[in-house]
Amino acid sequence: MFKENCLSGKTGIITGGTSGIGFETAKFLISLGAKVTVTGREQDKMEKAVSLLGPSAFGLTGDVRQADSVEANVNEHVKRFGTLDFLMNNAAGNFLCPLEQMTENGFRSVVDIVLHGTFLFSKAALPHLKKSKGLIVNTGTTYVDGPAAMVAHSGAAKAGVMNLTKSMALEWGPYGIRSNMIAPGPVEGTEGVKRLMASPSMKEKMNSYLPLGRMASGSEIGQLIAFLILMPYITGTVIPIDGGFHLTTPGLIPAEFLSPKQ
Ligand code: COA
Repeated sequence: MFKENCLSGKTGIITGGTSGIGFETAKFLISLGAKVTVTGREQDKMEKAVSLLGPSAFGLTGDVRQADSVEANVNEHVKRFGTLDFLMNNAAGNFLCPLEQMTENGFRSVVDIVLHGTFLFSKAALPHLKKSKGLIVNTGTTYVDGPAAMVAHSGAAKAGVMNLTKSMALEWGPYGIRSNMIAPGPVEGTEGVKRLMASPSMKEKMNSYLPLGRMASGSEIGQLIAFLILMPYITGTVIPIDGGFHLTTPGLIPAEFLSPKQ
């Protein structure tokens, strides 16, 4: 599908890249010749990811909610690789919780990671992306158009990310920077699926809502990111990569999974 070494010379940062979609994307981009920094909050998880990804990977710990940490991550990446061609804002936080039981801190934590984290990282990356005429790609979701029952905190944050994606495309387009959001549905083996589709029966039922009959693999998300890195004229878009999930289910949780109270 992609030419060997088609990403040779490209470098990028993937936040939340030590596991799940971020890790699989890093692996795929590296297989095409890219050099990738993966960030995460936990040192041991980060070290393990880098050892699996190999010498084209660089690992940094940090918290996307802290401006100083974000700035330091971006500077360390550029010090190591010299350029920044793409930034994948992928770090996320989520859990199932009805709004009625959601605490202020729970709501704030998710919005901080997802929305503020995307803003902080994009702003810190801006001077370097101006030089490379690079790409910002944000990991969104299919439930941005709502409703997002049981994950309203995440839905609200990701809807904000969608809007931010488009504003960055508009304001930073004149610098040659592209900004897009991908909207994955359930992706096999990820923390999100573990957390949100905990029981095998729920997972099985979820597959029945996917017109393609199965969840995505992480490398399929990587394929879309590689495509976006290579495409110079796509910006301001939201690209679903969800096996058609949005066609059958408006939110993450099919209505029949919810009790009348929820
Ligand atoms: N149900 C309800 N509330 C929950 C919860 C759950 N399953 N998990 C966490 N919270 C609440 C906590 O109770 C806390 O609120 P409180 O102080 O009012 O009690 C608040 O969320 C913050 O939790 P804490 O663990 O202290 O914050 P954190 O910053 O360490 O963690 C989270 C952030 C909450 C997003 C955590 O789930 C996380 O680190 N997730 C990262 C991985 C992830 O979610 N991946 C999925 C991607 S789809």
